[in-house]
Amino acid sequence: KRVAILISGGGSNMVRLVEAMQAEGFAEPVLVASNDAQAGGLLKAAAMGVPTAAIDHRPFGRDRAAFEAELLKPILASKPDILCLAGFMRVLTPEFVEHFAGRMLNIHPSLLPKYPGLHTHQRAIEAGDTEAGCTVHEVTPVLDDGPILGQTRVPVIAGDTAETLAARVLVQEHKLYPAVLKRYVAGDRSLLEL
Ligand code: GRF
Repeated sequence: KRVAILISGGGSNMVRLVEAMQAEGFAEPVLVASNDAQAGGLLKAAAMGVPTAAIDHRPFGRDRAAFEAELLKPILASKPDILCLAGFMRVLTPEFVEHFAGRMLNIHPSLLPKYPGLHTHQRAIEAGDTEAGCTVHEVTPVLDDGPILGQTRVPVIAGDTAETLAARVLVQEHKLYPAVLKRYVAGDRSLLEL
């Protein structure tokens, strides 16, 4: 299976996905693409020998469809079987998502369905939650809403800030996403709780 990965920043989740695929051979990373040419993850992907592409979303303004039409070019050229969003921070149109229906994953830093959207850790702390975590789900046209494939819970500790909680969750993201992708490639859609 050929896997393309979309990032927007440092790409720490992308790195773990690529490392797992290269170490275990369960799939092939064929492209890492970003909406930001300065994304640090692009350098990491290139250093791991993965082809990269960057399509800056800013020149397209509010015309999401035009941006996505450009982004689709390198993605389709890489002929992916599966598309993974990993720290990708642009909302994708239903048309784009439909293109990859049933073969597109995302990792979200909350225990979905709680806290879709942004600032998940701050929201959990402000709500007084004693648990937080991360979720890998199939991407559907509704933001952060698709079938859940994997989840990991972490404790919220008294005195946590959004940063300390994010750091605790990120460690688990790095374990969960590769494990879920490996099962997904094998056709296993059952829930994984790590
Ligand atoms: C992580 O918190 C991830 O949950 C979210 O984006 C953040 C950065 O991810 N989706 P990465 O280091 O770019 O993979």
